[in-house]
Amino acid sequence: MNPKAASQHMDKIVSLCKRRGFIFQSSEIYGGLNGAWDYGPIGVELKRNLKNYWWRMMVHEREDVVGMDGAILTHPEVLTASGHVGGFSDPMIDCRSCKAHLRLDQLIEKKGIKQCPNCGGKDLTEARQFNLMFETHLGAAADESSIAYLRPETAQSIFVQFKNILEVSRKKLPFGIAQIGKAFRNEINPRNFTFRSREFEQMELEYFCRPEQGMGLLEYWKEERLRFYENIGIPRDKLHVKAVPDEERAFYSKGTYDIEYDFPFGVQELEGVAYRTDYDLSQHQKASGKSLEYFDEEMKQKFIPHVVEPSAGVDRTVLALICEAYAEDEAPDEKGKMETRIVLRFHPRIAPIKCAVFPLLKNKEPLVAKAKEIVDLLRPHMYIFYDESGAIGRRYRRQDEIGTPFGITVDFETMGEKDPKLRDTVTLRERDSMKQERVRISDLLQLLSMRIA
Ligand code: GAP
Repeated sequence: MNPKAASQHMDKIVSLCKRRGFIFQSSEIYGGLNGAWDYGPIGVELKRNLKNYWWRMMVHEREDVVGMDGAILTHPEVLTASGHVGGFSDPMIDCRSCKAHLRLDQLIEKKGIKQCPNCGGKDLTEARQFNLMFETHLGAAADESSIAYLRPETAQSIFVQFKNILEVSRKKLPFGIAQIGKAFRNEINPRNFTFRSREFEQMELEYFCRPEQGMGLLEYWKEERLRFYENIGIPRDKLHVKAVPDEERAFYSKGTYDIEYDFPFGVQELEGVAYRTDYDLSQHQKASGKSLEYFDEEMKQKFIPHVVEPSAGVDRTVLALICEAYAEDEAPDEKGKMETRIVLRFHPRIAPIKCAVFPLLKNKEPLVAKAKEIVDLLRPHMYIFYDESGAIGRRYRRQDEIGTPFGITVDFETMGEKDPKLRDTVTLRERDSMKQERVRISDLLQLLSMRIA
């Protein structure tokens, strides 16, 4: 997509997200807080479905992974040992002409001269290191002794709790600890909607293993993660695997893959899968003085486990899901005239609302009562939306725009008025094809459960 078309496409997506309650700018009525976003009633469902499916695939469907939920406030010694206090920074420069603060890699270069991407200015400051961590103070004393940090990644609490979790879970290597939660980075330039935010969520797995298993598990987890994205509706041909070259990799990593997605604004990272060796556990063992070794009973060997880490961004994946699902096609309006339809073609598994239920007419009491019976039947099993207002075509369109995969309509045939054989059947409409099938109410639960699993 050329830059102008990409920007127009993103504008449509951002506008739909606001209009239909996916994502709002944080503190909007006060002018907005840069790099922070609030998820609305539909967005929060999408985000939850994504996190639940990650948890299902990475924890519940496996024997070798357990979960945890760590604190956001982090002891400064944890982040000193991990290298974040000393080195978690981006090189930053200022443009003296337009006063923009920029990351060094955002500068453009023309005829070998670096320029500001905003104003083209060449009067730039020297690069200086800018630490991305948010510092805060615990308790009343705002001095050195009270410093704590908002975690810049969820991973460190997993490493710090490694020994406790090993003991309580009684797992043997290889095994993993998974976590989903907030992370904070004072990004110099938040941009591309939610793509680079200052507050975001991560879904991370630290998979501990013997040293000789590390490289093989790096390949294994790369493939598992690609399978995950396909299972949530991101096709393989829109995903790119980049083997991160030696010079760009953290010094302790023996191999890293970036899984990237074709966003409208370019191919960008969704997730990193990194073989981090024994770096983190070794650092924490050294700094805390507490043993983080593992005793292999079969080999009668004590050693610090190595780790492979698939680390994905929740917000980036939500954005990829919306970008992937967004489509415009043609559908007939009430009078049969073709009009443009905006539709989000989410995989039913992650769609915010699974099914909408409509009585054909809201002033026909038997239709309304039957529709409400169906809602009661399905509601314990999936998120259902009941809507009786407006023409049926409009009601379908409203659901198409938020990606609801199925719509059930209760009509006069349901009441057996035209043909007694059709009593207690409804129409089931599929969002993408707009095709309708006649289905028995008693079959609905099983049929829908199979399609959204
Ligand atoms: N524990 C490893 C780690 O944090 P990372 O590559 O810095 O690695 C992992 O982050 C993932 O977290 C990224 O692939 C991305 O999806 C997400 N992420 C990182 N910074 C982000 C930001 N500023 N806004 C949104 N998501 C971000």
